[in-house]
Amino acid sequence: MKGIILAGGHGLRLYPQTLAISKQIIPIFDKPMIYYPLSVLLMAGIREILIISSPDHIDLYRRLFGDGSALGMHFEYAIQPAPAGVAQAFLIGESFIGDESSALIFGDNFFYGSNLTEIVERAAGHDDGGLVFACYVKEPERYGVVEFDEHERVVGIEEKPRNPRSNYAVTGLYFYDNEVVSIAKTLRPSGRGELEITDVNNIYLQQGKLKVERFDEGIVWMDTGTPESLLEASNFVQAVEHRQGLKIGCVEEIAYRKGYIGRDQVLKIGNYVEDNAYCEYLRRLVE
Ligand code: G1P
Repeated sequence: MKGIILAGGHGLRLYPQTLAISKQIIPIFDKPMIYYPLSVLLMAGIREILIISSPDHIDLYRRLFGDGSALGMHFEYAIQPAPAGVAQAFLIGESFIGDESSALIFGDNFFYGSNLTEIVERAAGHDDGGLVFACYVKEPERYGVVEFDEHERVVGIEEKPRNPRSNYAVTGLYFYDNEVVSIAKTLRPSGRGELEITDVNNIYLQQGKLKVERFDEGIVWMDTGTPESLLEASNFVQAVEHRQGLKIGCVEEIAYRKGYIGRDQVLKIGNYVEDNAYCEYLRRLVE
C-alpha cells in the first residue's frame, strides 16, 4: 500500500502565517504539522509516501524529508499546479500508485488515540473497496457528513450540507483499493469547482464497497487550519507530552519501533543538536 499526503492549498484561513511558508510546515507544538499525518501512515505500516504540494512549496518538503531514507522510507514529491479538490490527488499520484492500493491523508489533520495504531494497521490490510472514518463533531456542516438509515447503515455522504443529517463527519484519512484512480478520472468538478472526495466515496458506496468506521471517544481528530485549532492542537500535544513524557507524532520513534531504522540511525538524528529536547528524547529512546 502506498501513502499520499496532501499538503497543498493556500492556507488562506491562516493568513498571514502562510504568506511565506506552507501551512503544513507550521509547527504544532514541537514539530512541523506534517509530522502528525506522516506518523499515522507510518503506524499503518506504509513506507512509500508521495507528498503533493504547490509549485512554491514542494521544495520545503524535499528539504524536510529528502528521499526518506533517514526514516527507512521512500519519499516522492509531486506538484499540484492549482488546488482543484482532494480527489485530484489520485490523478496526480496515478503513476506513484501504480497497481497498488493507497491511503490518503491531509497534511493538516491530527489524529491521536491509544488504539490508533491498531485501527490504521487494520485499515491498511483492507484492500477491497474504500474505507473511511467518521467522527462525531459539533459542526458537521463544515465537512462531508454521513447519513445513516434507521438500521445505522450508511446511505450517503453529503459534502458540507446546510442541514446535516448526522453529526458524523468524514475525516481526512482514506483507504482505497486500486480502483480509486479510475473513479477519480470519472469525476466532474462540484459546485465549488472541486473534484470532491465525497463523490469518490459515494461511488464506492453505490457499488456496495465503502466501509465507514466510526471513531469512538478514545480517538481525537482535529483539523488544524485556523489559528484557534492550531493553538488547540499545540496545547493538546504539549499537555500530553508533558504529562506522559511520550511524544506524539515523533516519526523517528515510530520508524524505529516498526523496525525501519535501527538504533544507530536514531542516535545519529538524536545527536544532531546537543541542547534540544526533541533530540534528547531520541537519544533517551535508544539508550
Ligand atoms: C475535505 C472533504 C470533506 C472532509 C474534510 C475533512 O473538506 O471534502 O468531505 O470531511 O476534508 O477534513 P475540505 O478540506 O475540502 O473543506
